[in-house]
Amino acid sequence: MRVSFAEFWALTGLLWQLMVLPVRALDLDTTSKDSICDATDLIQGGIMDYYAGSQYGGTVGTFQEPYYWWEAGAVFGGMLENWFLCQNDTYEQVIYDSMIAQAGPDYDFMPSNQSMVEGNDDQGVWGITVMGAVERNFTNPSTKGAPGWLAMVQGVFNLMYSRWDDQHCGGGLRWQIFTWNSGYNYKNTVSNGCLFQLAARLGRYTGNDTYLDVAEKVFDWMVDVGYIVLSDTANVYDGATIDENCTDITKLEWSYNQGIVLGGAAYMYNATNGSSTWETKLSQLVGGSTKYFFRNKIMYEATCQDSNSCNNDQRSFKSIFSRMLSLTKILAPFTAEKIDPLLTASAEGAAKSCSGGTDGHTCGINWEKGSWDGMYGLGEQASALEVIQSLLFDQRPAPYTDSDGGTSVGDSSAGLNKTTTNVLQSDLKITHKDRVGAAVLTAVVLAILLGGSIWMVF
Ligand SMILES: *[C@@H]1O[C@H](CO)[C@@H](O)[C@H](O)[C@H]1NC(C)=O
Ligand SMILES: *[C@@H]1O[C@H](CO)[C@@H](O)[C@H](O)[C@H]1NC(C)=O
Ligand SMILES: *[C@@H]1O[C@H](CO)[C@@H](O)[C@H](O)[C@H]1NC(C)=O
Ligand SMILES: *[C@@H]1O[C@H](CO)[C@@H](O)[C@H](O)[C@H]1NC(C)=O
Ligand SMILES: *[C@@H]1O[C@H](CO)[C@@H](O)[C@H](O)[C@H]1NC(C)=O
Ligand SMILES: *[C@@H]1O[C@H](CO)[C@@H](O)[C@H](O)[C@H]1NC(C)=O
Ligand SMILES: *[C@@H]1O[C@H](CO)[C@@H](O)[C@H](O)[C@H]1NC(C)=O
Ligand SMILES: *[C@@H]1O[C@H](CO)[C@@H](O)[C@H](O)[C@H]1NC(C)=O
Repeated sequence: MRVSFAEFWALTGLLWQLMVLPVRALDLDTTSKDSICDATDLIQGGIMDYYAGSQYGGTVGTFQEPYYWWEAGAVFGGMLENWFLCQNDTYEQVIYDSMIAQAGPDYDFMPSNQSMVEGNDDQGVWGITVMGAVERNFTNPSTKGAPGWLAMVQGVFNLMYSRWDDQHCGGGLRWQIFTWNSGYNYKNTVSNGCLFQLAARLGRYTGNDTYLDVAEKVFDWMVDVGYIVLSDTANVYDGATIDENCTDITKLEWSYNQGIVLGGAAYMYNATNGSSTWETKLSQLVGGSTKYFFRNKIMYEATCQDSNSCNNDQRSFKSIFSRMLSLTKILAPFTAEKIDPLLTASAEGAAKSCSGGTDGHTCGINWEKGSWDGMYGLGEQASALEVIQSLLFDQRPAPYTDSDGGTSVGDSSAGLNKTTTNVLQSDLKITHKDRVGAAVLTAVVLAILLGGSIWMVF
């Protein structure tokens, strides 16, 4: 048989590819730290395929379109945990540069080219990530002019809390920060949940009771309006509009809403030395979290996964949810008995789903299938990362506080000089064209909302 020159090269090329690009499956031994960290190395490699900061013309700290700014915050939060849990500094610089770049000129996570469309939830999710940097003693900022991570979180907290609105619904934060954005009349759980959680974490970390008081106030408000319904299996709903005084509740349940509220309650429980009031609330939230988002012990996004209608945001929710369940069982050890078997089974399922794509370890969304389901994306990668690394939380120290291991420098008055009004007047320099652009964009969001498919985070 004769092989032509072209065929020869084609065959050699193929063989070469097979040799140098071995398809690596993701084997997971849930009891071995090395195995868990090998698996998460492969998954993080997949995350970096979507990272825009290392591409020509890309922006440090953001991912490719169509992934929104907030999701970058969430993903770096998961990678920061991996840095701590696996003690691997491969992505330390990427995470550091991303947080510094997206903090913006005032280090409050309102970079001027995002704040046109930025909501309280977007800022809050980045705040949660930077709080992770504080509690994990992540490399302190050495960039000229940058304050400590703690001061940045305090800035985010102060700004968000300055937007507390007693005029409607008896309190609460609106979803949007700026009046021209549709969604300005919607008060959502995730914005308030982030404020609650940041307050609880700042209170535990600094020992300053003022934060705990705010956390209590935000939580009580969410219960008052019925966004959180306490029972043995507590519900956490999405939000409502101020038009009906927050009574027209959108009763959709998302794992990240439940998770952010759950995590905040675990910090409150721990910060109050295991007080019985927080023990009760936390148990109720654990009851809901472990009931609504697991099937045969495996985590799923109940509201959209079966109908295959999860949007890009929703496909990432299991990542924060996994992190919050892990933190909960560390800060409130009495919950571990209930949470651990679910995380282990879900991690095993997720690992099996990470067997797709040309690299052989691309992750899917359905962890019950036992193999890859054909779905892929940044959210799928981030969720698999966080559920698999959840198995390591017991092996590393609990989140530090400033009296036992934390070194971040704070400033409890950070952000207080920058109110929404002067953001509008000085920082943004918004032109008429920008306003029209933002109005069109948010009109699209509103249309989708009203059309029934919910696009909660912008
Ligand atoms: C750290 O992570 C990198 C990239 O994910 C990996 O190549 C390396 O083997 C890891 N190092 C250790 C000590 O596990
Ligand atoms: C946003 O602004 C930063 C500088 O503050 C810049 O580096 C980045 O390219 C901008 N991003 C976009 C998407 O325009
Ligand atoms: C609006 O809702 C708040 C919170 O539930 C409640 O305290 C207040 O009485 C309500 N106001 C009216 C006018 O119904
Ligand atoms: C928790 O316990 C510590 C040490 O026993 C104590 O200093 C602190 O005041 C307690 N905090 C609360 C809220 O009970
Ligand atoms: C608070 O968290 C620490 C760290 O995990 C844990 O040792 C402690 O028992 C927790 N406190 C309570 C009251 O459970
Ligand atoms: C925290 O980081 C500082 C500065 O890098 C270091 O000196 C200190 O040992 C770290 N603390 C812990 C508990 O790891
Ligand atoms: C506690 O936090 C509050 C709210 O930010 C601040 O006003 C107060 O100065 C802080 N207290 C101390 C002792 O740092
Ligand atoms: C905030 O304003 C006070 C007084 O108005 C000033 O002393 C302080 O330096 C300002 N802080 C920042 C971060 O601009």
